[in-house]
Amino acid sequence: MANGQKIPANMTAIAISQPGGPKVLKPETRDVPVPGPGEVLIRVHAAGVNRPDVQQRKGAYPPPPGASDLPGLEAAGEIAALGDEISRWRIGDRVCALTPGGGYAEYVKVHAGSVLPIPAGFTYSEAAAVPENYFTVWHNVFERGGLKKGETLLVHGGSSGIGTTAIQLASAFGAYVITTAGSKEKCEACLKLGADRAINYREEDFVAAVKEATGGKGADVILDMVGGDYVARNYEAAAVEGRIVQIAVQAGAVASTNFATLMVKRLTHTGSTLRPRTVEFKAAIAAALETQVWPLLGTRKVAPVMDMIFPLTEAWRAHERMEEGEHIGKIVLDVG
Ligand SMILES: NC(=O)c1ccc[n+]([C@@H]2O[C@H](COP(=O)([O-])OP(=O)(O)OC[C@H]3O[C@@H](n4cnc5c(N)ncnc54)[C@H](OP(=O)(O)O)[C@@H]3O)[C@@H](O)[C@H]2O)c1
Repeated sequence: MANGQKIPANMTAIAISQPGGPKVLKPETRDVPVPGPGEVLIRVHAAGVNRPDVQQRKGAYPPPPGASDLPGLEAAGEIAALGDEISRWRIGDRVCALTPGGGYAEYVKVHAGSVLPIPAGFTYSEAAAVPENYFTVWHNVFERGGLKKGETLLVHGGSSGIGTTAIQLASAFGAYVITTAGSKEKCEACLKLGADRAINYREEDFVAAVKEATGGKGADVILDMVGGDYVARNYEAAAVEGRIVQIAVQAGAVASTNFATLMVKRLTHTGSTLRPRTVEFKAAIAAALETQVWPLLGTRKVAPVMDMIFPLTEAWRAHERMEEGEHIGKIVLDVG
């Protein structure tokens, strides 16, 4: 391992003391991780907060085998040490990374293939808000869903971290974007980000609204984080040959639907979870993002929507904010 700066033996990290509410997130002293072959150690300056962290805190989303038990799926900072077999990165490089866990800490180790340079002009907080959402949206909307220029994307939860990313990227790549959100304010924020139509799902039926907005055709790709009764409704809202990509099931993992609709429209219903995928798979997404999306971040054609920043030691407040559901875009931890 190559060290460029004095790395302490211990660090402050936020641990999940027991499954439960936000207050179970407690600062702890932990050993600084040691990067193995193919890994780098990052001195974290900012860490992104994601809904899966809330699920993990509640005990409903255990870390995959081998991952840190600490929460945190993304971070930004400087490379502090290099494991063996690292050629691209140097000590002191400003980077952001998708982490398999452990982002809520002063140091995190991560496979080099999950690391990207901080987009030009970005602060650490902005950079920490990028990886989890951009990796997820790129894979699910463009690779799995196959969204193409001129097609229509329906994205549910448009004001979420994932939703704000999907709206901007799909719009930047020439899609017509329809989104759903739970308030007038959230719908307005989605329109500002480039959505062509925002549906307040508490007041309007999204199936009818999508049909109306597409001249009866329906959406070519649907990115769904809701599940439950949305499954059957997504089938109705989809176009012939439509692709529905499931990335969460917040309203329920078990659903009843009409498979005749799937057959008649020749729909594809797929889904994925990012965290347990291999380092090779994540490296391939990172490479695609760096070529196709980093230039857009560098000119701020797309950029994370920043909601609020909390100090690392007040991570519980960040989770409270997320669970209140008032946020628009990303919540981030300032690690110092
Ligand atoms: N599969 C993967 O690889 C992967 C990776 C990352 C994230 N995710 C998932 O993606 C989702 C978004 O993550 P995030 O970090 O961006 O979270 P977030 O900012 O907290 O967003 C959650 C969103 O879900 C919407 N929502 C929740 N329940 C709903 C319901 N019953 N009906 C309609 N909308 C509902 C909320 O919309 P309103 O506030 O408008 O109601 C909110 O915008 C989470 O479910 C997360 O677990 C999946």
